[in-house]
Amino acid sequence: MSKVTVFDHPLIQHKLAILRDERTGTKEFRELISEIAMLMCFEATRDLPLKSVEIKTPMAPMTAKKIAGRKLAFVPILRAGCGMLDAMLTMVPSAKVGHIGLYRDEVTHKPVEYYNKLPGDINERDVFVLDPMLATGGSAVDAIEIIKRSKPRSIKFLCIIAAPEGIEVLTKAHPDVDIFCAAKDECLNENCYILPGLGDAGDRIYGTK
Ligand code: PRP
Ligand code: URA
Repeated sequence: MSKVTVFDHPLIQHKLAILRDERTGTKEFRELISEIAMLMCFEATRDLPLKSVEIKTPMAPMTAKKIAGRKLAFVPILRAGCGMLDAMLTMVPSAKVGHIGLYRDEVTHKPVEYYNKLPGDINERDVFVLDPMLATGGSAVDAIEIIKRSKPRSIKFLCIIAAPEGIEVLTKAHPDVDIFCAAKDECLNENCYILPGLGDAGDRIYGTK
């Protein structure tokens, strides 16, 4: 069964409060999404295996630790997931990047696929799917289905705000995928927006409202 981790770190919670605030403008919103993603990446990669390496500091030889050759891939769900990407790449510059384009139909709230480009060697990689919002769960479920066709080593889902409904749908559809979020909110409204949430993540990142 999926493990669901809600990050309660004070720095993440503080930044999330500013992110949610309706008075926060596009520039600051983008910066905060990035900063929260960077802190989440730090925790979500905690289980990467290490190997011992022999190095010399200017003072003495020593046995140090490096990541044991695990290859990662980051897959943002367009558009809003791209807001988390640069921060993840800052932490893990060697990761490859795939993109999955999905938008929610305004009437049915079901995801519609419009783009899909994944690294050719994704079958050798541990994948982190990025999307700030897990609402009904439809977009995450479809994106992960698309990625699974290429048989990656593992998949984790990183979002900033998750609705209980989305967590339930995603864990049922993909029980092998662990979920990391900064907050588990109360519910969805009649338009399938998260309450209290932060509004439309894509519009707030790109200033399109
Ligand atoms: C938002 C969000 C997720 C999706 C979540 O994207 O970034 O991808 O909705 O909703 P769900 O869990 O109910 O599927 P949206 O479809 O608004 O597209 P955008 O990122 O291009 O704005
Ligand atoms: N997508 C968003 O951007 N926000 C929500 O609350 C739900 C879906």
